[in-house]
Amino acid sequence: MSANPINRRLAVFMHLDSQFVPAGLLGMTEAGTDVLASEFKYGLLYLDRGNAIEVDPVSLPIQDKGAIRGKALLPTEGLTLFGGIRDAAPDAWGRRVIEARLRAPMNSLPESTYLLQAGGQRVGALDIRPSLDSPPIEIRSSVHRLEYLMEAADRIEQGQAIPSQLEDIFDAGSNLGGMRPKATVEDDDGTLWLAKFPSQGERMDVPCIEAATMRLAAEAGLDVPAVKTETLHGKTVMMIRRFDREWIDGKQHRRHMVSALTMLACDERASREKSYGEIADAIRARNAGPLIKNDNRELFARMVFNILVTNDDDHLRNHAFLWNHRVKGWGLSPLYDVMPRPTMATERFLHLGVGEQGRLATLDNALSGYSRFGITLHDARETIDRVWRVVREWKTYFEGYGVPGGEIEKIAPAFRHLNDVLRS
Ligand SMILES: Nc1ncnc2c1ncn2[C@@H]1O[C@H](COP(=O)(O)OP(=O)(O)OP(=O)(O)O)[C@@H](O)[C@H]1O
Ligand SMILES: [Mg+2]
Repeated sequence: MSANPINRRLAVFMHLDSQFVPAGLLGMTEAGTDVLASEFKYGLLYLDRGNAIEVDPVSLPIQDKGAIRGKALLPTEGLTLFGGIRDAAPDAWGRRVIEARLRAPMNSLPESTYLLQAGGQRVGALDIRPSLDSPPIEIRSSVHRLEYLMEAADRIEQGQAIPSQLEDIFDAGSNLGGMRPKATVEDDDGTLWLAKFPSQGERMDVPCIEAATMRLAAEAGLDVPAVKTETLHGKTVMMIRRFDREWIDGKQHRRHMVSALTMLACDERASREKSYGEIADAIRARNAGPLIKNDNRELFARMVFNILVTNDDDHLRNHAFLWNHRVKGWGLSPLYDVMPRPTMATERFLHLGVGEQGRLATLDNALSGYSRFGITLHDARETIDRVWRVVREWKTYFEGYGVPGGEIEKIAPAFRHLNDVLRS
């Protein structure tokens, strides 16, 4: 039975200069859980602000303000929802949290409900409210009790009801997408961390290995946020510093963030047909001029790293762009969600295309497409060399980080041997 279409209107706010201001009105036509169409109209006062930021760089650019004043804009490429708005919605884990709170079955709610319920800690700088005069979402007091959050995460994963004293997780956890239980945790000094908990039924200590891999990536010169781990009742929790929040002169600033899905104007189903080369093209087309060269070199290095550690969950939602206030443009976000996958296969593939041989995860294939990243062959070789010199010593680094021997053994098949990835 198909539901009747319903038109809904939501207010979109942007965090500018440490406070939310109305950015515009979003219209959504929904039938049950399907979004059939959307339109967005920027507020005139918003467009008049010198520091206004585009909600979506592809479908809702604001460079030509005259052309968009008072106009209802539609998503490009036949999409039914704007990528920049979709990025402010929770996915997988965040949805489970909302459903647990609303006592709703899995994936049963309209998208507009998920958008409205995602809460004040959602990723990036947008807020979505029922109307322009809806009060700002109350920012809950800091959540320090990891233990508490871990218990609530376990219950949500098991589909159990949450006792009221554990409901804090709803404000702390309903913000971010992805699969793994996670919540935002605040330090004594106000720094926000994304805590990633172990998931039930895993045969490895995933948070421990993910944290070690991020530190390894930092050793290889990649742009990695601060990462740390904590142990609770023998379980590891990984904490990664939230790069979409900054403190400047005692005030919190949120940084607008969009996924590579949004930059490439596609939806999740199209992700597997896309490539690193296409992200490189988007960087050239849309990033702030002064950042382009470094961002593309960094992207190439990330691709090489993903090949060497078999991080083949490198889909377009696991790459993102942040608005940079200083240069007034988009730049590549720091690295996140990198997890090696142990396998016995000698021939391996990444999720995204690598080079002339498609998704084949080899260094030869990476080299074949270097020019699309706007780097020289010399640069490409040097980058591969730099990343390889660190990754080949991964065991020594992991031991140094205190990863237990048993975990090192389990993850070892993820790391490539040079002969398997380089012929030339
Ligand atoms: N350090 C960070 N700062 C800000 N936002 C982040 C950070 N790390 C991740 N995010 C956002 O949170 C989302 C979910 O995080 P992540 O991708 O690490 O988890 P996941 O997809 O659930 O991971 P997993 O595949 O391990 O289950 C990301 O898509 C990104 O938008
Ligand atoms: Mg992810």
